[in-house]
Amino acid sequence: MARNKIALVGAGQIGGTLALLAGLKELGDIAVFDIAEGMPDGKALDIAQSAPVEGFDAKMTGGSDYSIIEGADVVIVTAGVPRKPGMSRDDLIGINTGVMKTVGAAIGKYAPDAFVIVITNPLDVMVWVLQQASGLPTNKVVGMAGVLDSSRFRTFLAEEFKVSVEDVTAFVLGGHGDTMVPLVRYSTVAGIPLPDLVKLGWTTQEKLDAIVQRTRDGGAEIVKLLKTGSAFYAPAASAISMADSYLKDKKRVLPVAAHLTGQYGVDDLYVGVPVVIGAGGVERIVEIELNADEKAMFDNSVGAVKTLVEVVKKMESEKS
Ligand code: APR
Repeated sequence: MARNKIALVGAGQIGGTLALLAGLKELGDIAVFDIAEGMPDGKALDIAQSAPVEGFDAKMTGGSDYSIIEGADVVIVTAGVPRKPGMSRDDLIGINTGVMKTVGAAIGKYAPDAFVIVITNPLDVMVWVLQQASGLPTNKVVGMAGVLDSSRFRTFLAEEFKVSVEDVTAFVLGGHGDTMVPLVRYSTVAGIPLPDLVKLGWTTQEKLDAIVQRTRDGGAEIVKLLKTGSAFYAPAASAISMADSYLKDKKRVLPVAAHLTGQYGVDDLYVGVPVVIGAGGVERIVEIELNADEKAMFDNSVGAVKTLVEVVKKMESEKS
């Protein structure tokens, strides 16, 4: 059986890390595309030369012609510009909308059967733009945000509780931005919900609130420290877990930016919700009951995504 093919559109910080991780995990052959000529070729060659040492088999190709993504089973998109200190994800909307339109059209042409994972920010609106430009079915185009946000939440919780990160589960809903909704009552340590752990004296409500806020600001904390770009190791690891679930039909339940058609009262918008990812792409959207507070936070987050979609629509209508 031929190997799977993973195409990476964008070979920057996240793209390079994706290529290395996909190789180490032997997810398939890897094609790396970037408009910066030479750079994707160089990264592909460099990673290929790590394979004999690490002991993995994967054909690595790099280039600046979209035809290299032809026939990909998975496409992961990081093309665009990242944040600099003082910028919000939303500040990237002008440049990255144009990039998503070009990339979407290329995916529609060369990899129409792929499962597409968008990472470019501002995430929820960029995945919406790319899906429209690609013409791919909505269940095959998703955005990576929730896995990263919940992984950040899990990291901070494990640190607070002094337990293994593996035993902490976290549930995050909503858009990938300051309005995201970490759901405390659905987050657990080995199945024990966080509110019960407060009652048991493992932490205090104040500390938990601070962790929720740190999760919301997780990306900005790293941008501030790095000074020249945004996070890349954890975003790459998160997208790889989504690709893995698709390629191996694992049917993992993961929070992703998915296209909603009425679920959670949202129509024709990409927002972070838990979904089942298997060989059919997004196979099921998990709709849970929210209490009044959670619903208010979720609606606020959806409102922020809607506002950005309107910004894009306005930009596009002014152009035409
Ligand atoms: N087509 C293809 N690649 C492009 C295009 C384009 N039109 N425009 C820019 N790129 C490439 C750049 O040449 C660069 O190599 O996208 C790459 C982006 O890489 P980095 O600048 O290193 O950014 P990275 O940290 O990987 O983040 C990429 O993911 O998390 C988001 O906010 C982040 O939107 C940003 C994206």
